[in-house]
Amino acid sequence: MQQKIDQLNKKRAESLLGGGEKRIEDQHKKGKLTARERLHFLMDEGSFHEIGAFVTHRSKDFGMEAQQFPGDGVITGYGKINGRLVYVFSQDFTVFGGSLSETHAEKICKVMDLALKNGAPFIGLNDSGGARIQEGVVSLGGYADIFYRNTIASGVIPQISAIMGPCAGGAVYSPAITDFIMMVENTSYMFVTGPNVVKTVTHEEVSSEELGGASVHSAKSGVAHFSCANEIECINNIKKILSYMPSNCEEKTPMLSYHSGDEKRIKLNSIIPENPNQPYDIREVIEEVADADSFFEVHKNFAENIVVGFARLGGRSIGIVANQPAFLAGVLDINSSTKAARFVRFCDCFNIPLLVFEDVPGFLPGTDQEWHAIITNGAKLLYAFSEATVPRITVITRKAYGGAYDVMNSKHIGADLNFAWPSAEIAVMGAKGAAEIIFKKEINEAPDKAAKAIEKEKEYAEIFANPYRAAERGFIDDVIFPEETRERLIAGFEMLKNKVVNLPRKKHGNIPL
Ligand code: HXC
Repeated sequence: MQQKIDQLNKKRAESLLGGGEKRIEDQHKKGKLTARERLHFLMDEGSFHEIGAFVTHRSKDFGMEAQQFPGDGVITGYGKINGRLVYVFSQDFTVFGGSLSETHAEKICKVMDLALKNGAPFIGLNDSGGARIQEGVVSLGGYADIFYRNTIASGVIPQISAIMGPCAGGAVYSPAITDFIMMVENTSYMFVTGPNVVKTVTHEEVSSEELGGASVHSAKSGVAHFSCANEIECINNIKKILSYMPSNCEEKTPMLSYHSGDEKRIKLNSIIPENPNQPYDIREVIEEVADADSFFEVHKNFAENIVVGFARLGGRSIGIVANQPAFLAGVLDINSSTKAARFVRFCDCFNIPLLVFEDVPGFLPGTDQEWHAIITNGAKLLYAFSEATVPRITVITRKAYGGAYDVMNSKHIGADLNFAWPSAEIAVMGAKGAAEIIFKKEINEAPDKAAKAIEKEKEYAEIFANPYRAAERGFIDDVIFPEETRERLIAGFEMLKNKVVNLPRKKHGNIPL
């Protein structure tokens, strides 16, 4: 027996070494952790259990039989993060550049199947040169097996992708189907075709970083939700984001214990500037309303005219969507609509109540927006809110103009409670624009046109630039003092905690993609 135990020990040690000391050293030189080091920092101590450590590839071409590394370039298994079960893979760049072989893919699929059957989040730590070139079509098939599982698991269990090295070709599409993508600055990139192909096809000269680095994808394309300064920050973000979500779509959101105290927040009374056209930072409102230090912003650098993220309110996880008057006046455009729609749908999948702060002057006009389909893209947000069955509350802090009033979680599309601050202006458009249109003739015929225009603007503002017309109709449930927002929201979400809505039976809806 001792001999057999020694043999197992030897095999285990071999598998722990991945591609060998030299390649581990190279990995460190690039400023990257190894696949096992990443798991060490991600999982609760001693909780990780590996599956498939002895799996080897089956390839026989190009002398591959002679190159065998137990585990075949990916560590897969399960364990706990903050005491909660998760399933995980971590690609090992020291073995064939973490490239995906048939068996590598089978290992990932095996843990995905377990994650789905057992209702626990699935996390992928990606660091891979893409399809294993020596294997050809079987590695492409392996990718497709993973994409299929990502799709079937979507909305059932949370899926999080960390990009911690190259991620090229088909490899980007698995992360793209998952719920959140985190990238590490300077050491990770994502693209469908790399700089060499780009040069051949379009004659553009571009570096990997410029084409698909963390800053590009977190700010320009919106592919990545987080840009992390280093791998440890990335791992900490994975742990943090998981803390706001349930393990699967059947569970309620995690609730931290909370003892209510004085919930008044006087500072909220003085955030909105006297001049309705002056910007302010909606994050100040969010920070005052949410539990201390609980706001975790998602997609921070992309479409900054809308702010989305998780927070806690009286200990309860919520998702926040807020127009940002400090950026483009908080206008809705293509990117902000798709950003918010995706976030709303995630929250709805996983029973996370939604809180909306509204201060929106409307949709962004112009040929660029129209030609790139603001109609279709704006409709995504409208659709996402309309189909969301989680508890939904809106607070209008200032402007709720035009179609954007409807879109931003209005009562008409299913919000449960709609509050307005006394500073709210709920109208078809701003008073100036409105007066210029409907009193055009009167203004033009007046001896002092400018004075008449101001008089008419004031008249319109008195009637509509307030929350009371909407409140009279019941479109607004109450006009509240800003300082009481937090207590009204805690009470509101508590009242809504058992909300049940059954949508008509259907296969699935057809969101305007
Ligand atoms: C097999 C690979 C590999 C791959 C890298 N390696 N990529 N082996 N298949 N796809 C191996 C290298 O031979 C090398 O082995 C080791 O990994 C490290 O690679 P280096 O090139 O030395 O590292 P580095 O300089 O850091 O460059 C990393 C890289 C580069 C940028 C990822 O290796 C690269 O461009 N690889 C090819 C990327 C690619 O085109 N993949 C196919 C995408 S198409 P040794 O033995 O020397 O350590 C695709 C289709 C999927 O994925 C479609 C699904 C729908």
